[in-house]
Amino acid sequence: TMPPVCDFTVFGGTGDLALRKLLPALYHRDLEGHLPEDTRIIGVSRSEIDDEGYRAEVRAALERFVEPALLEPEAVERLLGRLHHLCLDADTAEGWHLLHGLLKDRPREDDAVRVFYLAVAPRLFGPTCERLAEIGVVNERARVVMEKPIGHDLGSAREVNDAVGSVFAEHQVFRIDHYLGKESVQNLLVTRFANTFLEPLWNSQWVDHVQITVSETVGVGSRGGYYDHAGALRDMVQNHLLQLLCLVAMEPPTYVGRENVRDEKLKVLQALKPLTPADVDRDTVRGQYVAGLVEGERAASYADDLGADRSDTETFVALKAEVQNWRWAGVPFYLRTGKRMDRRVSEIVVVFKEPPHAMFPGAEGGASANRLHICVQPDEGMRLHLTAKEPGPGGIRLRPVSLDLSYATTFDQRSPEAYERLLMDVVRGNPTLFMRRDEVEAAWSWVAPILDRWEESPEPPRRYPAGTPGPFAAAALLERDGRSWQETD
Ligand code: BG6
Repeated sequence: TMPPVCDFTVFGGTGDLALRKLLPALYHRDLEGHLPEDTRIIGVSRSEIDDEGYRAEVRAALERFVEPALLEPEAVERLLGRLHHLCLDADTAEGWHLLHGLLKDRPREDDAVRVFYLAVAPRLFGPTCERLAEIGVVNERARVVMEKPIGHDLGSAREVNDAVGSVFAEHQVFRIDHYLGKESVQNLLVTRFANTFLEPLWNSQWVDHVQITVSETVGVGSRGGYYDHAGALRDMVQNHLLQLLCLVAMEPPTYVGRENVRDEKLKVLQALKPLTPADVDRDTVRGQYVAGLVEGERAASYADDLGADRSDTETFVALKAEVQNWRWAGVPFYLRTGKRMDRRVSEIVVVFKEPPHAMFPGAEGGASANRLHICVQPDEGMRLHLTAKEPGPGGIRLRPVSLDLSYATTFDQRSPEAYERLLMDVVRGNPTLFMRRDEVEAAWSWVAPILDRWEESPEPPRRYPAGTPGPFAAAALLERDGRSWQETD
């Protein structure tokens, strides 16, 4: 069904996120006929450009970030026709009446859903919401969208949540974690709970351990200003990786509703074993890339990317976590993420225990443990590793084989980008795939001891050459437990 008419206001409308992700996502929905006619998109930024100037910038962005085959001139014009631009600064009161005027300029002004998307630095979340309240545009049909990271640590996250919460009720607040909008991440829930064969095995009796990897080949690019202040733990682990962990570990909700899934995820976050300083030293590894070769090309060091002499910010994290509950007690969850690694892959691997009894002693090859690889990107799909008999008249020879499910070949459909799904959920008012306040704060509570310990530790991040799987210590973290990272071939 068609979503309601909406005025979609993007703060940071000329920024990287808006141009690279948000506007292309809105374009795709529009292309498929999912934006009602009167939908308007209002870009807000400090740039002194008019509507035409903004349209030109967005046109260039669409040409760059939308797949050429999907760039239809008529649809491009339609989207550009919806655009407005307002030059505003959250730090001053000037010009805000213009936004008020624009939003009120509708035949039946209160009918439209008002989305306020804060694609700006977290320090501006609170002040922007306060200005919106002052100019009187926050009504029952208003929603605010916040990008992660929400704050810099638990204390600042609470402050942001309080400030935003003094203007918007929790059901009007949408905290985006775009990983939750990815098709393959949503499919994880379906795989687990719409099939019978996995769930009986999905526990400490049969699962040896779980690995979650989000590796990127890109460096920090032009985002150094933000990134150097954040680091990989805040940028990726506190949100994306912990959310993936939650979806793997959570109990089945009774149905997929606005709160149930979030309730179950929260319980997982609360069950994560708190880390002592000694645990942090033993079970976490932080790294930073130095110059190297990525996919055959020279890549500079992180410090050079920043244009700084040195920095102690981590661009890589590996750690071992444990979910202390009945289902998962004793099962390690190994997480790792980094920039400038050897390849781009986001993947969850569930490694099952060895069969209880070795029936084919002496057989060549030997049975290896079953593993389920859930590939989030780039090749969305699933692979179940099994052991099979190699055909032949002689003795029994065991061979590792796999059952492969590829989304691309199974479904003759384009997988929408995460933001397409999530932006429409905001317009429709469906918060299921967004992080609730208590989830965000529970995730910050769990990473807090790591942040604290790293800050006081004199040991800088371990260096790893760009284009490699991270520092050796990350491999050692598993080897110590008699395990190893499962690399996809
Ligand atoms: C963002 C991080 O949230 O996720 C980036 O801020 C990271 O640093 C990006 O590159 C990764 O997203 P994706 O969808 O490309 O895996």
